[in-house]
Amino acid sequence: MRKAALHNLGCKVNAYETEAMQQILEAAGYEIVPFQDQADVYIINTCSVTNIADRKSRQMLHRAKKKNPAAVVVAAGCYVQAAAEVLKQDLAVDIIIGNNKKTELARILADYFASASNPAGEYVINIAETNEYEPLGIDRIAGHTRAFIKVQDGCNQFCSYCIIPYTRGRVRSRKPAEVEAEVRRLVAQGYQEIVLTGIHLSSYGVDFPAAEGENLLGLMQRLHDVAGLRRIRLGSLEPRIITEAFVRELAKLEKICPHFHLSLQSGCDATLKRMNRHYTTAEYEAGCQLLREVFGNPAITTDVIVGFPGETEEEFAQTRAFLERIRFYEMHVFKYSRRAGTRAAAMPDQVPEPVKSGRSDVLLALERQMSADYRRSFIGTRREVLLEEPVTVQGQNYMAGYTREYVKAVLPGIDGGKNTMVQGVLTAMLDDQTLVIE
Ligand code: F3S
Repeated sequence: MRKAALHNLGCKVNAYETEAMQQILEAAGYEIVPFQDQADVYIINTCSVTNIADRKSRQMLHRAKKKNPAAVVVAAGCYVQAAAEVLKQDLAVDIIIGNNKKTELARILADYFASASNPAGEYVINIAETNEYEPLGIDRIAGHTRAFIKVQDGCNQFCSYCIIPYTRGRVRSRKPAEVEAEVRRLVAQGYQEIVLTGIHLSSYGVDFPAAEGENLLGLMQRLHDVAGLRRIRLGSLEPRIITEAFVRELAKLEKICPHFHLSLQSGCDATLKRMNRHYTTAEYEAGCQLLREVFGNPAITTDVIVGFPGETEEEFAQTRAFLERIRFYEMHVFKYSRRAGTRAAAMPDQVPEPVKSGRSDVLLALERQMSADYRRSFIGTRREVLLEEPVTVQGQNYMAGYTREYVKAVLPGIDGGKNTMVQGVLTAMLDDQTLVIE
């Protein structure tokens, strides 16, 4: 039996696809071993989001070849899409498989092993020209009670700093019936929470015929009917999807978690314009207000880039003030990282690294404070906690889990009738001991 090892780089969508490739290999009879072990085949699902991601992808490919020079090293995914010519020259790489070709992994390997000359394989399409959603799927997922499910691929937005539209192509959506079938499979295995993910999730359905009227809301309404599914969480959303109609319909679906990740990137309108983001801070703020009006105290989380080309002290101050006003639960702060081939990489007034680091530190400190404030707002409230894993604190056993808002709680279990537990779900009164504040 051949041994295969996989390594994922990049985002949640890539992680889902690595999982799917692993399951394809298992079904084809491979034994899956950890990446550090000796294997006959190494698959690296690469990322190309920054120059650093490119470098990491190359490093992992070389590390695999070094581990076992006789192994077949497969480069898959976004870096292949961005740099096929470079990889074809790379002696550490035997096969390159671009996006939309990962489903064929087992067949490609079988052909490779069947040929006496072991020819280098190149399986890369012009991703910008495909309308096909690649039919990758999973039966199970490594993890606890929550399963990430990819429902959409590609992006039509072309933010000035981002290479992804070039590595992933245009918007393609997975058929609702296929998503539902996968959710049913996972629920049958015991998963109670799903997280819908995509490259640009808000665009779900825009590529379907208009007559079908499919969109993200419709998909959630459909999944809401799956018996045994307790929670539906949404991955990153584009702020403009938050309209009155969308939010009011969403609020009717009790399985939807009041946790919204609205990608902001900057709290300054001039910076947003240079980033080619298609909303203003006023629109973004109105969306947050609407969510709070309808959902009470929802978790609102975001991504922010600091040190985007041309970001002045004044622009950064505007961003900071905006973040303080919105009061986010969590923020992922990224220092702008140049990606060759994007418009932003060629923009003037690139911000020096020490300035980016200083701004990042300021926002990270703000994040810690806002996050703790939000967690504290649940003290004295009764919340449903979906338990995920046992933890030991100072020799005592507890269960850790998350509320619908994705706030972590560590609970002693069933507690004298005060807390009730049904199928891994505990409804508990939260206090400053059970909530993980810092
Ligand atoms: Fe990287 Fe491709 Fe995801 S570039 S972030 S793996 S879409």
